[in-house]
Amino acid sequence: MKKLGLGGHVTCVDPWLPYFDSEKETGRHYDNMNRAAKSGLIYQLFRHNVSSSGFGKTILAKRGKSCAILPKLQAQSFDIVYLDGSHVLEDVLFDLREAKRLIRSGGIVCGDDLELQLHERNLADVGAAAGTGKDYIPAGANGLCYHPGVTLAVGTELGPVGVWDGFWAIQRSGEQWIPVPLDMSRSTLPRHVASAVIRQEGEMPGYHLISSGRRYFGLAKDLGPLDIAIEMLQEDDLPPLIFSGATLEEVRQKIDRSLGMLTVKMVKDRDLDLYPTPVLVGSHRGFNLVRFKTDCYGLRQSLGPVDASIGNDQIEAQYAREDAVRGDSLESVKAQIDAIEVQRAYDWLVMRLQNLLEQAPRSDKAES
Ligand SMILES: C[S@@+](CC[C@H](N)C(=O)[O-])C[C@H]1O[C@@H](n2cnc3c(N)ncnc32)[C@H](O)[C@@H]1O
Repeated sequence: MKKLGLGGHVTCVDPWLPYFDSEKETGRHYDNMNRAAKSGLIYQLFRHNVSSSGFGKTILAKRGKSCAILPKLQAQSFDIVYLDGSHVLEDVLFDLREAKRLIRSGGIVCGDDLELQLHERNLADVGAAAGTGKDYIPAGANGLCYHPGVTLAVGTELGPVGVWDGFWAIQRSGEQWIPVPLDMSRSTLPRHVASAVIRQEGEMPGYHLISSGRRYFGLAKDLGPLDIAIEMLQEDDLPPLIFSGATLEEVRQKIDRSLGMLTVKMVKDRDLDLYPTPVLVGSHRGFNLVRFKTDCYGLRQSLGPVDASIGNDQIEAQYAREDAVRGDSLESVKAQIDAIEVQRAYDWLVMRLQNLLEQAPRSDKAES
């Protein structure tokens, strides 16, 4: 408005109170948003943003639900109505009808959270989803999520609208409504907003890689769709869900290490199922190779049957180290057996050599 030399006011309608139904919305970010609203922090932040923007006199706050405030506003008195309030079907329908009443001809009704338009979805599916009162749900198996209440209300009240990445707009021309073509790819962001923008930097198996400001993050896909996962962004690592670093490479390495540890743990968990009792799995250099739970044993065959289920402490107490070894893998057990056998062969050679030397006639005696 300032750039265009326009006067006028911006009227903001919001109760600035918790509004998510905690029975229906179980995600942590819904709790966090409700708690922040309840503490008064969101309203304080709004006031702070307004006063520091220098538009304190232009922006009017009307605190209350839209159903209480909008009917009091004069018909056809607004050039733009921007809807970004409740996502519950009945509330969005109410807000849209009021927006249509409030906008003057030539004005634009627009809003947020329209990831899918009604004509792109099966009406019965959207109706059923909106009927649950759920805020944001998966649209299918493709990972896309949407706000069914917004999709159904905008589709039935306005029909197709211009849309760009969830932001939608339609223009009133007399009694007609014309979708506004939106292409914001070349629009610029104010510097303070740009620095907080989240950029998608890539992916790793099971992780989104993103940057925010000068920091890089790995967010587990288990946290949900990226826009939900971003709500949980924090500086501290929360393995294996969140990793952060000064460079993308640092984050990648942290994820690699974590995946490595998880793999070891998964293999161990699998072994608990595979070898609940001792199982003879092979032999090596005169040793039986036995697996029991997460352990591998090498037990010298000449010992006869050994019950590995007595556990490593008992095995160590009952058998010599060179007859019974334990490791985390068969490779480690085989390597220990190799070392024992090489040492035994060496000891035997040394002993044999000593015997030969002792038996041999001494050269000094022979000379005398
Ligand atoms: C998704 S947030 C968007 C807030 C703001 N437009 C923004 O982008 O930061 C939705 C907002 O709608 C408000 N809200 C929820 N139900 C409302 C209702 N019935 N009437 C007016 N505002 C409502 C909430 O308090 C919350 O601030």
